[in-house]
Amino acid sequence: MRKKIAAGNWKMNTTLLQGIDLFNEISIRLNEIQLSGVQVIIAPSFVHLAKFVSLARLNNSICISAQNCSHEEKGAFTGEVSPEIIKSTGAEMVIIGHSERRKYFNESDELIEQKINLSIKTGLTPIFCCGESEIQRSQNQHFNTIKLQISKALFNLPPTDFCKVIVAYEPIWAIGTGKNATPEQAQEMHHYIRSLIEDKYGMHIAGATPILYGGSCNSENSDALFKNPDVDGGLVGGASLNAEEFIKIIRSLAAN
Ligand code: 13P
Repeated sequence: MRKKIAAGNWKMNTTLLQGIDLFNEISIRLNEIQLSGVQVIIAPSFVHLAKFVSLARLNNSICISAQNCSHEEKGAFTGEVSPEIIKSTGAEMVIIGHSERRKYFNESDELIEQKINLSIKTGLTPIFCCGESEIQRSQNQHFNTIKLQISKALFNLPPTDFCKVIVAYEPIWAIGTGKNATPEQAQEMHHYIRSLIEDKYGMHIAGATPILYGGSCNSENSDALFKNPDVDGGLVGGASLNAEEFIKIIRSLAAN
């Protein structure tokens, strides 16, 4: 059975104190409910990683992720944060290839591939994001776009490394817009992604790879999205900044 995963990407939100309050609220509520096999991940700012790792150790059911990493191992790269530095905070995961990084920081598939390789080499679990734009979907290019993003960034990995990757499908037109993919659109693309993985790495690895949905996921639509056989959880932005909302999403994942 694949892992069910609910990940909160806090993006560039919350001061340290706001983050601690939100984190504590989420962990208190998490302790009150039956999780039944859901892995909860929170991705705060780099600056706060160490703090949240120590809070998570008290709670022990939340895993901490960075939102990005450098493609360089170390050296004179002012302002960059290497996978090794992330790992040294105790964080275990890193989001790579988010569409906001691709769009605002010109991240290419090649750069993303380097980040994936380095994060795996360092022992971090990459959460690899892919997604098409509204125009690409309207031109029926969405499958091709996803195929290219995945094959360029991930398909040079040997099977022993590929099986460490978590994939997140985040259609760009759904991120922060309030317009989520329909459950049918999500299932169709997740199934397609799993078939690409199967063609490359075989049934066993494809069946074990978690594929998360992201893009305006909230407590109103999460149930219908998570009911799909190929949707293994969510990468949640806005709705993860509200403890009650995020817990409802986690509950709906546990129930499906
Ligand atoms: P929203 O849930 O705010 O649409 O963001 C999704 C996302 O980008 C998560 O990485």
